Amino acid sequence: SERTLVLVKPDGVERGLVGEVIARIERKGLKLAALELRTADRATAEQHYAEHDGKSFYNDLVDFITGGPLVALVVEGTRAIPAFRQLAGGTDPVEKATPGTIRGDFGIEVQYNLVHGSDSAESAEREIKIWFPNL
Ligand code: GTP
Ligand code: MG
Repeated sequence: SERTLVLVKPDGVERGLVGEVIARIERKGLKLAALELRTADRATAEQHYAEHDGKSFYNDLVDFITGGPLVALVVEGTRAIPAFRQLAGGTDPVEKATPGTIRGDFGIEVQYNLVHGSDSAESAEREIKIWFPNL
């Protein structure tokens, strides 16, 4: 069993899709190990997206992710990291995510792609520490 860090980003919360995302996680057979509604401060968002520092979209991304409440979750289960990435779909909701995925079903623009999921075991460990330091 492994753990992954999931965010329902501010667009997903604003649009009332928290329950939808959690339902898909649970139906997949994954378990919730932690869950919190919060508004991220800039330092947290910059740490979370440090790998993108310097890219053209970085400032917009940090503005967006700190712009309203989000839901942070730790999701646990066998193959939890790739399993949630599969549920999320590709980064671009139209060009990459297919119907049946969260982004494919509910998203259009790349910045407003509803959810985040850790992309590797190393990322998951790093990100869980950022969002849930006491876990
Ligand atoms: P996350 O789960 O959020 O990390 O998405 P990802 O792993 O599918 O994509 P990646 O880590 O490459 O990018 C992080 C986030 O930056 C994406 O989810 C998008 O919200 C945003 N992003 C990525 N590429 C672009 C881009 O070309 N333009 C804009 N505006 N945003 C982008
Ligand atoms: Mg990523």
